[in-house]
Amino acid sequence: MDRDPIAVIDFGSQYTQLIVRRIRELGYYSRLFQPSELDQTGNPAVVILSGGPRSTLEEGAPDIDFDYLCGMGVPVLGVCYGMQLLNQKFGGTVAPGNKREFGPAALNIDPSDSCPLFQGLSASSQIWMSHSDTVENLTDTTKVIARNDDGVPVALQYDEQFFGIQFHPEVTHSTEGIPLLKNFVELGQDLPHFAIDSFKDYLVGRVREEVAGRKVVCGVSGGVDSSVLAALLHEAKVDTRNIFVDTGLLRQNEAAEVKALFDSFGIEIETIDASEKFLTALKGKTDPEEKRRIIGRLFVDIFFDAVGDDVELLAQGTLYPDVIESATSGSIASTIKTHHNRVDRIMELKSEGRVLEPLDELFKDEVRALGNVLGLPDKVVNRHPFPGPGLAVRCPGEVTEERLKIIREADKIFIDGLHEHGQYDNVWQAYAALIPVKTVGVKGDERCYEFALSLRAVTSEDAMTAEWAQLPYEVLGDISAKILNEVDGVNRVLYDISTKPPASIEWE
Ligand code: XMP
Repeated sequence: MDRDPIAVIDFGSQYTQLIVRRIRELGYYSRLFQPSELDQTGNPAVVILSGGPRSTLEEGAPDIDFDYLCGMGVPVLGVCYGMQLLNQKFGGTVAPGNKREFGPAALNIDPSDSCPLFQGLSASSQIWMSHSDTVENLTDTTKVIARNDDGVPVALQYDEQFFGIQFHPEVTHSTEGIPLLKNFVELGQDLPHFAIDSFKDYLVGRVREEVAGRKVVCGVSGGVDSSVLAALLHEAKVDTRNIFVDTGLLRQNEAAEVKALFDSFGIEIETIDASEKFLTALKGKTDPEEKRRIIGRLFVDIFFDAVGDDVELLAQGTLYPDVIESATSGSIASTIKTHHNRVDRIMELKSEGRVLEPLDELFKDEVRALGNVLGLPDKVVNRHPFPGPGLAVRCPGEVTEERLKIIREADKIFIDGLHEHGQYDNVWQAYAALIPVKTVGVKGDERCYEFALSLRAVTSEDAMTAEWAQLPYEVLGDISAKILNEVDGVNRVLYDISTKPPASIEWE
């Protein structure tokens, strides 16, 4: 029997996506569903009920069709909110929390117990808690299978198939969380495997079916997502117009490099040089949000002007986290993406079934792996993310040609330097930003008054949080010396050592 993806039911926890991701990392195919979509999960091998920010005691709290769930006849794991919900369904109760427990706790198990969840786990390990309500009265048939150091139950077994855990196994702070998840998932029969090469074949099929002979328009930027998308459409032999808008806010030689890349792949792209338009529209504008809005609107207008009435189907490189974020939360990430993937014009097309988003089931690292399978060069697949509004967000204050030139030249030296020193792949993202402040220096025996420049390199898993990259001093020294020697208009280089939060990755 062909199993459908392992269903993770989303009760809204910030960690829910991570559960899906962890299961895929274990090699099994998993997807997220809303509680109301339980009957659309098909025949998953196991079901996980996620955590969530609400209280099961609140009126209108998210619920699940328990009869349906039981009828599925597969193992079920309730995590945090999911466990509290199960406890109520099995006839126990939940007590309101008067304070939130957030942080590490201990998972103490009885190693002689044969509970399948804990096979191979240590007698005691660290777990991560994030909850306020707690399970209270347990029914006679409920078995406590683990406790914290105070003897409070942190894991329960309701029957052969139903389990609950109060903690979050998906976060790395739960030191044996992944083996526990693996134990649970492998209770399922005929698990659906997730491997990117077979997934590619599925995607090619999905694209052909959705396109159904229509003419596709695809916006490419040279970034990983849109390049992988264009390569996938190419592989699926779909009739596609690839459009590249040069905003004039791109990196050194970027437009030419993107063209060369697609040429080498046998993919034709149409480049629209709109740099003048963007620079004119940005003239005198200094407010970061206004700059973003101007760029976002202009981009969409220019793109659709070029496309004309030709757009039967618009292809976008929207990824899984984008879909989930824009659907379930008002997170920063969703607003960040708004102007390209979710503007009104695109939403209108979407409501007409005219948007194709074949990467919408994938995480960034999976998209990179797909790019590899599709034969894209490493330099594209491993490229650092680049923001839609381009260098404008790395140029606080007014965006001018003079300032962009400085940023481009310094950025190239920085990125080339990271490649030379073997550091490029060690960081999530790196770039140069211009600080719109002139300071005094000395160049060629003369006093100069020029801009300061910030180098930023961060490590991150998903861009939601970031650490500044601890690049070796000699690498920074070498790059700084080159910038000061070679870039006119800069006499000072600083290294940004801010974490996110509170700083963001970009300067604006
Ligand atoms: P921040 O600066 O919010 O950035 O920490 C997080 C990640 O998102 C990228 N970014 C953007 N991407 N349009 C995009 O497509 C945007 O307006 C935008 N702003 C930031 C940023 O480069 C980082 O990877």
